[in-house]
Amino acid sequence: MSKKPIIVFEGIEGSGKSHHISVVSKYLDKKEISYIKIREPGGSPSSEKIRKLILNNKSDFNKNTDLLLYLASRSENITTIKKYYKKKIILIDRFIDSTIAYQHFGMGVDIKIIYLINRFLLKDISVDFTFLNLVNKQNLYLRLKKRKKLNRYDKFNTNFYNKVQNGFLKLAKLKKKSYQLINSNLDIKLNEKLILKKIDELIF
Ligand code: TMP
Repeated sequence: MSKKPIIVFEGIEGSGKSHHISVVSKYLDKKEISYIKIREPGGSPSSEKIRKLILNNKSDFNKNTDLLLYLASRSENITTIKKYYKKKIILIDRFIDSTIAYQHFGMGVDIKIIYLINRFLLKDISVDFTFLNLVNKQNLYLRLKKRKKLNRYDKFNTNFYNKVQNGFLKLAKLKKKSYQLINSNLDIKLNEKLILKKIDELIF
């Protein structure tokens, strides 16, 4: 029997986190280990509706509305997470640390309110491990240019993304033992191997 951790993939746009989460899913499929996969914002049908609203290019919400919408989207996912918590492996593409990195470090929203509402939503649920995908400034620019469908957040400037990535790094420093940094500028196959090795440690 495998262990059932919550594993989160974090990183700024174009850092490769979604690629790695799909590699992990395929690995678990092959091993016939059951898991659930969620993305934020989004995940459940109701949460996907909120995702469309937040990331729509025509939306122009202020930073507090954005925060509340991201948290509303999380609130919809918590029902699913609670249902499978410690029963199945839960893989999440972005979670609480994205809110702290983007809304606090990127946009300047008070961190206390973010922690407060997250605690209210999560209660005793906690993340077991986080992979933080990092990308350098030049690659960020190139990767963003390559993305076909740019959403509202993709259009922020590189200065914003530097603040967000530095925010993620601050969180990683605080939670060293449950965080692994993945340098997305290195060979992608090498990173896949590193991640799968850690996944084995986490679940077996
Ligand atoms: P992505 O899922 O394609 O990475 O895009 C989601 C966008 O939402 C991305 O720009 C990061 C942003 N975001 C926040 O700003 N706060 C959050 O709490 C979450 C989950 C995402």
